[in-house]
Amino acid sequence: MLPSCNMLLCLLVWVTAYGNTLTISSTVNSTEFVSDPFTGLTINSSCENAYQCRGKLVCIDGQCKCSENYIWNGTRCIEEKTFNSKCKLTTECDTTLFCIYGTCQCAQMYYWNGHICVSKKTVNDTCTNSKECGGKIICEDGVCQCLVDLFWNGNQCIFKNLNGQSCESSVECAENLECRESFCQCSESEYWKISKCYKKKDENSFCNSSIECKASLQCRNNNCICCDKDYWNGQFCERNICAVEQCMNGGKCQISGNRHKCECVYGYLGDKCQYADGREKDFIVIFHQAHGSSSPRILPAINRKSEINIFYYANNKNASVTLNSADNTYTLDSNVLMTNGLHQAGAEIHSNVLITLYGFLFVRSQSEGFFVIPTRFVSTEYLIPSFTPYSTTRRSVFSLSSVYSNTIVRIHFKIKDGTIEYDNMQYSNSQTLTLVLNKYTAFQISHTSDLTGTRIIASQPIVVVSGNLYNQVIGIASIQPFIEMVLPTNQIDNVYVIPYLKN
Ligand SMILES: *[C@@H]1O[C@H](CO)[C@@H](O)[C@H](O)[C@H]1NC(C)=O
Ligand SMILES: *[C@@H]1O[C@H](CO)[C@@H](O)[C@H](O)[C@H]1NC(C)=O
Ligand SMILES: *[C@@H]1O[C@H](CO)[C@@H](O)[C@H](O)[C@H]1NC(C)=O
Ligand SMILES: *[C@@H]1O[C@H](CO)[C@@H](O)[C@H](O)[C@H]1NC(C)=O
Ligand SMILES: *[C@@H]1O[C@H](CO)[C@@H](O)[C@H](O)[C@H]1NC(C)=O
Ligand SMILES: *[C@@H]1O[C@H](CO)[C@@H](O)[C@H](O)[C@H]1NC(C)=O
Repeated sequence: MLPSCNMLLCLLVWVTAYGNTLTISSTVNSTEFVSDPFTGLTINSSCENAYQCRGKLVCIDGQCKCSENYIWNGTRCIEEKTFNSKCKLTTECDTTLFCIYGTCQCAQMYYWNGHICVSKKTVNDTCTNSKECGGKIICEDGVCQCLVDLFWNGNQCIFKNLNGQSCESSVECAENLECRESFCQCSESEYWKISKCYKKKDENSFCNSSIECKASLQCRNNNCICCDKDYWNGQFCERNICAVEQCMNGGKCQISGNRHKCECVYGYLGDKCQYADGREKDFIVIFHQAHGSSSPRILPAINRKSEINIFYYANNKNASVTLNSADNTYTLDSNVLMTNGLHQAGAEIHSNVLITLYGFLFVRSQSEGFFVIPTRFVSTEYLIPSFTPYSTTRRSVFSLSSVYSNTIVRIHFKIKDGTIEYDNMQYSNSQTLTLVLNKYTAFQISHTSDLTGTRIIASQPIVVVSGNLYNQVIGIASIQPFIEMVLPTNQIDNVYVIPYLKN
């Protein structure tokens, strides 16, 4: 298209006035010069110089183009609109901007960095302003982060899971919940209430429910407490060992630290007070026959004053004796001494305090003592021990007496040599002698050979002493009775307690 006459005229005027160089001087307002946008070549037309191009178009690379920062609005070159400028069409806005609701804006997920629209940043990218960060992400501490209560699921910020909802990691869980066993829940030391985790409570704290209480504490009467028989060790309810481990014989279980100990009553010992130390109040003392003029005695081993009552079987008489720790033996009436057969011989002894009792047989100046088994521990089965008599005059001998009336006693003899005669009957080895004993009656039998191994079985408890009429141990003695009170077989054990003996 040829330039119009009008345009040519104007150019001539301009060239004449300012020479032949195209200099847009500051004094010249070029917009005035190109004020008619309808003459000259239009956009994209081939050109050789700017004069040929219409309006503000300039000739670039042989084509009419808008100069930098100008864009073609379909009619003319207009100044390009930047971020937030009012616009009608996206074409008016700077290249990366879009005309959105009347202003030039970046597209969604882009932000204006001052020059162009760039992609919004994602979680963990550094930032200076929340606008730089993508949807629901804010800039905090110089880093794009999801809002509180939201977490990045790899794609977007979504709401954190609440108590009881499933999870893969603790960042997915709201508040101070943690992901355990694939569920959001409070830590083990906390409980959930309404919308928050709270620290679990110690023993004796106020509570409304057991879940508020630590470990295995239970909420009872609004109080965190251990179950019965348990106690709080500071971390959990522990079984009170005393509820399981019981002390015997009236012993009291005491907890100290986390250990238990049985405090035994007087007369018992052992870690469960299972052993009696032999101290008691009631005894039956019998003797067997010994040499000539032997003297029967007792020694109550006590460490304080005691009243001793002695009831003699022979004459139904009581003797009352007050003993104190300075006393030694007490000589009994000789009516307690035995000979073969059935006799009212022996004594029942009662002390008002616990004592250990010893029986003694003084033979000339030689004494011999034995531990008197308290009546409580005597029983129904015995096995006779005895020394082999040195000669036929020495003799094995034993005596027994019943605790109750009408006690049937069976003696199964073990006789080394010969036979035993009693009540016009002869008993040989392996034969059985049966007796019925009344209370306060004793029975004795002796034999020229050893009776060791003879078994005695009674229907009710009996007491038994065994030894020799007297016996000889070469170089030591020739008239010793070797008397002992025999332990019932149910008292023969693998634990023995050395009994208390004064000084
Ligand atoms: C050119 O004219 C326009 C509009 O009339 C005006 O705003 C502008 O300041 C003028 N420029 C110069 C350099 O005189
Ligand atoms: C001019 O040419 C450019 C590229 O050659 C093209 O993008 C543009 O749309 C053209 N303009 C017009 C108004 O035809
Ligand atoms: C181009 O801009 C001019 C001046 O602002 C305006 O008068 C005209 O209508 C615009 N053309 C189009 C197609 O928008
Ligand atoms: C963000 O950084 C934290 C800490 O370095 C990291 O644990 C987390 O996995 C990161 N998140 C993402 C989406 O990369
Ligand atoms: C226990 O429950 C009562 C009544 O529902 C409430 O007033 C109180 O705050 C609760 N106490 C605790 C420690 O939760
Ligand atoms: C002897 O003492 C005992 C116990 O104190 C008593 O039961 C009994 O009756 C007394 N016997 C006589 C004969 O006094």
